[in-house]
Amino acid sequence: METKVVINTTSSTEKGVLQTAELYNYVMDTSVYPREHECLKELRAITSTHPRAVMGTSPDVGQFMALLLTTINAKKTIEIGVFTGYSLLQTALAIPDDGKITAIDVNRSWYEIGLPIIDKARMTHKINFIESEALPVLDQLMKDPENKGTFDFAFVDADKDNYANYHERVLELLKPGGIAVYDNTFWAGTVAMDEASVPESKLASRKALIEFNKHIAGDARVQISQIPLGDGITVCRRN
Ligand SMILES: C[S@@+](CC[C@H](N)C(=O)[O-])C[C@H]1O[C@@H](n2cnc3c(N)ncnc32)[C@H](O)[C@@H]1O
Repeated sequence: METKVVINTTSSTEKGVLQTAELYNYVMDTSVYPREHECLKELRAITSTHPRAVMGTSPDVGQFMALLLTTINAKKTIEIGVFTGYSLLQTALAIPDDGKITAIDVNRSWYEIGLPIIDKARMTHKINFIESEALPVLDQLMKDPENKGTFDFAFVDADKDNYANYHERVLELLKPGGIAVYDNTFWAGTVAMDEASVPESKLASRKALIEFNKHIAGDARVQISQIPLGDGITVCRRN
């Protein structure tokens, strides 16, 4: 007998967590801000006066990252794209005292804005900050057998055009079961917009992210989930 497949016709927009700005604010005010560490609040306040403040990782993403980090008992992590250090401090707070973060950014001066607060939180000893383009550092790390397949967690939040290149290297560095989180995979919603209505400034990275999202959806080496937190994150677990 033929099996009848019942399709749930409830549209995703009816169920979606991003239905209204009020709902988003409700989540932030109820579940995120009350639990945010004082130093993270301070770091966010300092960053808010920066001309590029919009680049800072969203606190709801940070909270979820911390949950993932503690769930997998992450100890050795890598971060690509530090800015003033919000996600970095969030990571440092979530890993054990002898945990280590390799943090890469082309701009040390931005990291130094947040550094006094990272110091105040007593987390600096967990961080190895490297001022560089990320790709050569990742290539160097991969050459070292002590690094290959040893990282528990990666957070990728730098130049979007290189996400696919970062992914290849991050997979080599992660241990099986390790988690990578890619930020901004919605690119302000433009990945699902007609090209004609996308602001010129967003076009190049939008194209890269559409290709990356498609690529990773077909990547059998990882389990994935694309989650509507912040500007969209894609969580990957290395098989
Ligand atoms: C979106 S911000 C990172 C935000 C950060 N995760 C936070 O929590 O605030 C992106 C950062 O990537 C850095 N970046 C851009 N291109 C890079 C590259 N090729 N290699 C390393 N860092 C890069 C920028 O200097 C910038 O600080």
